[in-house]
Amino acid sequence: MTTTAATKDGLPSMIAYLTRVLKTPTIGAFWEELAEQARDENWSHEEYLAALLQRQVADRESKGTVMRIRTAHFPQVKTLGDFNLAHLPSLRRDVLAHLATGTFVAKAENVILLGPPGIGKTHLAIGLGVKAAHAGYSVLFDTASNWITRLAEAHQAGRLEAELKKIRRYKLIIIDEVGYIPFDQDAANLFFQLIASRYEQGSVMVTSNLPFGRWGETFSDDVVAAAMIDRLVHHAEVLTLTGDSYRTRQRRELLAKEKRAGRD
Ligand SMILES: Nc1ncnc2c1ncn2[C@@H]1O[C@H](COP(=O)(O)OP(=O)(O)OP(=O)(O)O)[C@@H](O)[C@H]1O
Ligand SMILES: [Mg+2]
Repeated sequence: MTTTAATKDGLPSMIAYLTRVLKTPTIGAFWEELAEQARDENWSHEEYLAALLQRQVADRESKGTVMRIRTAHFPQVKTLGDFNLAHLPSLRRDVLAHLATGTFVAKAENVILLGPPGIGKTHLAIGLGVKAAHAGYSVLFDTASNWITRLAEAHQAGRLEAELKKIRRYKLIIIDEVGYIPFDQDAANLFFQLIASRYEQGSVMVTSNLPFGRWGETFSDDVVAAAMIDRLVHHAEVLTLTGDSYRTRQRRELLAKEKRAGRD
């Protein structure tokens, strides 16, 4: 009897110790509160255990998501929820909803967003990247010219292969703004190697203001551009967006508002 009481008294410190060893701090923090709820609501032992484990898993997942979003280096965090779909009828909602599940990352498929300036390519790329991070995939975002700088530095240091391998650890890489800054032959070759190294192994999301037919201009080489596009689109969702720039529209609306305010 006394032994049981002693054991019972020792339970909190024992649980604290065990949860530390198991690295499950949420269980350590919530087991008592949930035990009370379990008693009040007559949960079975199994229900209590499941609730406690569930709390720990949810906490770990949300911490992981926060970490993945932080390490993705998005220029800003934009979400699909903030995206006004009514402004972009050329975007198929079913396709966007499917991409938002992140299953394309599991299958190492690519996403290409093509369209004129201000149409929402970067916003969508970040929004989809955030979704992928929520789904548990590691993501890395950068502009095309920064990707090239990174590869060129690695190449100069004689560790291009190691760098490509490091990049392959990310399940999804986002290459923003292909087409604005032309690449010389060396840069185009590096870019090709990046795409080739991920082919059927890891997802790539690319945004560009240029249709594929004009990528040869950016990469100063039609042959390299064609080989790259071939790999990129083999397993890919290509979204061609058309319409007005959201930036210009916001500006137009602001001007109209100011004009109205001036009249009143
Ligand atoms: N449909 C939309 N709903 C809400 N905000 C939008 C929408 N489209 C664009 N925006 C906003 O408008 C701005 C321009 O969009 P974004 O940067 O995604 O354009 P882009 O296609 O990447 O243009 P660029 O080719 O010039 O880089 C951003 O602030 C973005 O959040
Ligand atoms: Mg952009």
